[in-house]
Amino acid sequence: MEPLITANEVWGVSPKMPPFNTTNPVILEQNRYTKGSSNELAGIGIYGYESSVDLWEQKYIHKNALTQSWNLVVDDMGAEMFTWDLFTEEFCQDIIEAAENKNAWTTDRHQYYPTTDIHLSSLGLYPTYDAVLKKFAFPIAVKNWQLDGKSWAENMKHETFLVKYVPQAGGQMHLNIHHDKADYTVHVNLSNQEEYEGGGTWFPRHNKLVKGGAGKAVLFPQVTHPHGGRPTLSGKRYCLISFCNRGED
Ligand SMILES: [Fe+2]
Repeated sequence: MEPLITANEVWGVSPKMPPFNTTNPVILEQNRYTKGSSNELAGIGIYGYESSVDLWEQKYIHKNALTQSWNLVVDDMGAEMFTWDLFTEEFCQDIIEAAENKNAWTTDRHQYYPTTDIHLSSLGLYPTYDAVLKKFAFPIAVKNWQLDGKSWAENMKHETFLVKYVPQAGGQMHLNIHHDKADYTVHVNLSNQEEYEGGGTWFPRHNKLVKGGAGKAVLFPQVTHPHGGRPTLSGKRYCLISFCNRGED
């Protein structure tokens, strides 16, 4: 039997998109979601979710995720790990810009394995991200792990923060192997692979290095999935991490 995981398998290296082709059914399907005019979309910012959920999602949620057809757009990486395109590059750029403008980085929020990070509440984006996870992330865990009831859906809790890795004095370059304080984690890479060298999330028990492009999400459970941040050797690497825990029934 072929092993599910090959040694040093690297996920997230995206193949080049095929050229536009009117016979490509995926591209035709995606075009159904192009509704807002370019002016309308330009007028929506990262803080504009409540003013227009529809336009905000068109601008910032990847067209794959907008379908909510999880059978179609989620890749099963094996070893209980799942990946999908969640955000557009504009989302990644705008939330990094919001974090850098706020410049309220903390280095001691977690007792063990602290990261250089900023909590989404500090950015004023917690309610927006909460709505996004409930619509475009939690359903993937519910479906794949057969999680029943509202404790795994609308009552799900999460701690979400934006992490920065930089190989400079005063910055954080890597994170040792650890478990998250969560039932499962949703990890979103915000940086393009050309923007840094090294890095990636390493899962030693599964021999997997996850290095998604900007906007790519990865879902994985805890206990069985110790992991760490490989050293970022140059550039900057930003990620959004959500520690997700079952809520009330
Ligand atoms: Fe972690």
